[in-house]
Amino acid sequence: MNNQIYLDNAATTKVAPEVFEVVKKYSEELYGNAGSLHTLGQKSKNAIIEAKNILKAKLGAKTGDIIFTGCGTEANNLAIKGIVLSLPLEQKRHLIISEIEHDCVLNASKWLAQLGINVDVTYLPVDKQGLINPQDVKNLLRPETVLVSVMQANNEIGTIEPIAEIGKICRENKVLFHTDASQSFTKFPLNIEEDYVDMVTINAHKIHGPKGVAALYVKENINLTPLLHGGGQEKGFRSGTENIPGIMGFATAVNLHTKSDILNMTNLRDNFIKQILSEIPNTSLNGHPTLRLCNNINISFEGINAPSLVLMLDSYGISASVSSACNSLSLEPSHVARAIRGTSAKMDTIRFSLSKYTTEAELSFTFDKLKQIVESLRK
Ligand SMILES: Cc1ncc(COP(=O)(O)O)c(C=O)c1O
Repeated sequence: MNNQIYLDNAATTKVAPEVFEVVKKYSEELYGNAGSLHTLGQKSKNAIIEAKNILKAKLGAKTGDIIFTGCGTEANNLAIKGIVLSLPLEQKRHLIISEIEHDCVLNASKWLAQLGINVDVTYLPVDKQGLINPQDVKNLLRPETVLVSVMQANNEIGTIEPIAEIGKICRENKVLFHTDASQSFTKFPLNIEEDYVDMVTINAHKIHGPKGVAALYVKENINLTPLLHGGGQEKGFRSGTENIPGIMGFATAVNLHTKSDILNMTNLRDNFIKQILSEIPNTSLNGHPTLRLCNNINISFEGINAPSLVLMLDSYGISASVSSACNSLSLEPSHVARAIRGTSAKMDTIRFSLSKYTTEAELSFTFDKLKQIVESLRK
């Protein structure tokens, strides 16, 4: 067994060997600037077109465009700020955002709301399993609603949201719909047409692609104000020299998850959850039991201090997480924990997130250590 047991794949993943080879090739051999006229430049330009076609095919998008960005945070900021700022300043603009979105969506919308430019944000509630009721979206729509943003799957608790139903309501009411699929892309089906989606955030480093590259898919005829102004790359939506090694690495990662990888992760996930709940007393699962990302395990251990548990697991070479990477240094329960557990939310929760490389032997070792540590911490 590998000495390191990495169970923090929702934070980031290791680069797959086949991705690494492609990144290397586009760094050492085909390193031209896509804006250059010479052959190397044109090869880079063609590589971008090829990568976009691969991503669009995965999303079932016949039209529209992919805008490459530097991270998922940037893609989400572009979707939210880009729409709101593209509309006349005097126009009233209303956004609907779920209360369990990633901080980058929440903070981008909060920033817009405090600019003093006629922007109002409503936060959609979730139930105890983190699920959104599409009827709530319908009830909260206003004549001035311009955008609804609901993630496809939550990064902490793994709950998969009913995005097709939400998207349909938005389409019927002529409101744009954005979904952040940073965690779910390639692990759960997403189809631009069938899910009535106008914009989607996808992220390379969550799927064994390189860090420093993500993308926003945008349907045709959507006007976005760019975040970065400059040389006009990415049709003016995202200036800056394109990251070809990253982009080609991302395109290579898109088809790494096979059906059998998804099935394996689901089985490992369910067995691990079952074992914890049945053999470690006073534990509970957060998130939905079945409408759940194939790699997400989020458990509360009554009476346990989660950072202590994470650090003790780490001393055995096991990497797990306190809620999410963004919240790991906080002393307070995350906004997601508070949304589903209310005032009873405590710092007693650990997230294990699997990858296609996770093995049964690794989880068995992890379970033994986990049981032992929880028993000793409780004493
Ligand atoms: C759901 C979700 N959205 C957005 C992000 C932000 O992605 P990045 O760290 O690449 O900016 C993350 C990263 O954890 C995420 O899980």
